[in-house]
Amino acid sequence: MRVAENHWYPLLEGREVRRKPLGVERLGRRFVFWRSADGTLHAHVDRCPHLGAALSSGTVQGDELVCPFHGFRYGGDGQCRHIPAIGRAGRIPRGMAVQGFPVREAQGLVWLWWGDPAQVRDALPLFPQLEGTWHHYTIAVDWPVHYTRAIENQLDVAHLPFVHRTTIGAGGRSRVEGPYVEADATRIRVWVTNSVDDGLAPRDQAQLAAAAAGHEPGLDFQFPGVWLLNISATFKNFIAFVPLNERCTRYYLRSYFRFGPAWLARPFGWLISLSNRYILGQDHRVVVTQTPAASPDATQDRLVGADRAIAQYRRFHAQLLGDPPADSGE
Ligand code: FES
Ligand SMILES: [Fe+2]
Repeated sequence: MRVAENHWYPLLEGREVRRKPLGVERLGRRFVFWRSADGTLHAHVDRCPHLGAALSSGTVQGDELVCPFHGFRYGGDGQCRHIPAIGRAGRIPRGMAVQGFPVREAQGLVWLWWGDPAQVRDALPLFPQLEGTWHHYTIAVDWPVHYTRAIENQLDVAHLPFVHRTTIGAGGRSRVEGPYVEADATRIRVWVTNSVDDGLAPRDQAQLAAAAAGHEPGLDFQFPGVWLLNISATFKNFIAFVPLNERCTRYYLRSYFRFGPAWLARPFGWLISLSNRYILGQDHRVVVTQTPAASPDATQDRLVGADRAIAQYRRFHAQLLGDPPADSGE
């Protein structure tokens, strides 16, 4: 599948990778994640270069990943270290190695550099405000949708009174003022200003910009796919959008909260996750019906002013994919 190259992608939670090799589908490819004896994380293509067996069905022994088929052993650097069939005295053929990827762990997630290893950036697309003393609770949800539709749904401020009429969109605030959006190829920030349609002219961009100054955006998105909803200073929702393949996206949806005693954090997190699941289910009903599946193919979509954040996502996503600029229709 096509995804923008030269980015750090959050692909799974750190706690999912134990000593046993873990085979997963991400970005339309099969990866194996494993840890050597000291806990160091490694990511490789889940295919033994000998005869193509899945290394994830093998084992980890010490600092080596061992293929289950003929026992070839690979180090964390991907180089083959031992071929039992040729014995210890045998010479390992040049190029007998499994392709690996730079990986990092931060904020409980495993990040993989997808692109040219010579261009690895130091900085991960993290939200620094999530550092520190937060309680958090994470759920993983798989949707049968392309990641672009999943992300755009969470940048869409016009669907709330329709899709979420009974929950976060109650109150009939169907008119979107602006929204006011600041965007570039690293980040999209949206100040959400919905109101009941009183028939008067909504505020213009200059007025909205003035109102936004000094305030955190309601929605904060960083390419290629992390999102933060600022509910309040003590309560935030975070999503890592993880493309599994062309047809499926995993949401790692995490609520961060900073209230209540520590002993209540788990049950409270669980309760929030129930509500998040319900609200996300309301989105699911509609997003799975969107055609075409991937928004880069949706040249016939006709955006309106309220879709400004979606238009910006499409513009910069196309740039990152290296596609020619398209008319956003806005
Ligand atoms: S296929 Fe892996 S050792 Fe033969
Ligand atoms: Fe929604």
